Amino acid sequence: MIDIVNASKFYGTGQSRFQALKSVSLKLKKGGFYVVTGASGSGKSTLLNIASGLERPDDGNIIYSETDIAGLTDKELTQFRRKHTGFIFQQYYLLPNLNVDKNVKMGADLAGNKNYREVIKAVGLEDKLQKYPGELSGGQQQRVSIARALAKKPEILFLDEPTGALDEQTGRQILDYISTLQREYGFTVVMVTHNLNIAQMADTVVKMNSGKITEIYSNSEKKTAYEIGW
Ligand SMILES: Nc1ncnc2c1ncn2[C@@H]1O[C@H](COP(=O)(O)OP(=O)(O)O)[C@@H](O)[C@H]1O
Ligand SMILES: [Mg+2]
Repeated sequence: MIDIVNASKFYGTGQSRFQALKSVSLKLKKGGFYVVTGASGSGKSTLLNIASGLERPDDGNIIYSETDIAGLTDKELTQFRRKHTGFIFQQYYLLPNLNVDKNVKMGADLAGNKNYREVIKAVGLEDKLQKYPGELSGGQQQRVSIARALAKKPEILFLDEPTGALDEQTGRQILDYISTLQREYGFTVVMVTHNLNIAQMADTVVKMNSGKITEIYSNSEKKTAYEIGW
């Protein structure tokens, strides 16, 4: 589904020019559950950002169903993200002046999906429709951001440290929602985390170090969000 070929990314200029991604190649298959792990600064977010079209690589190709998204214009790239991808970050990025219903509807409107209340129900927030983000706990806010991302019916869901701001119990609950919803909707998951325990939930684990992929392996047995260590 996504074929990353020799992708490199540089930040800064002159003396402070820094290569965050060093000719990385990776194939992501439709319906897979991928966890990208590695130490802080190893390039995980950079890989996620170029795989998802949030950023362009400076070199290499990001082939998505035969289109090289690295070669798209800004406008085309925005269209691509709208149509195909959903994002969840450590910070929830909800709009504080919109209630739960309207925050999720905004995601749904991008894709013309009228059945967005179904995903609010799927994350157990149907009784919080009229609440504003400030009235919700961190875990509830992250569930709103999951609903907003899924309301677009993305083919692929990108998550960057989705449990980074949550306590253990809430973190497990969020991961459980993600894997349950993946089974139900069948989207592809690409999740970045520095928590190695979470890698046990993946079909495929991608390990990074210093801007390179150092290891790719499959789990013969996947664990649930409640079976992994923390
Ligand atoms: N926008 C940026 N400008 C300058 N340096 C950056 C930028 N984004 C990331 N970097 C650098 O690139 C390296 C990889 O960053 P990142 O992909 O965020 O790592 P990770 O997500 O694994 O912690 C780090 O050294 C980071 O400081
Ligand atoms: Mg990161």
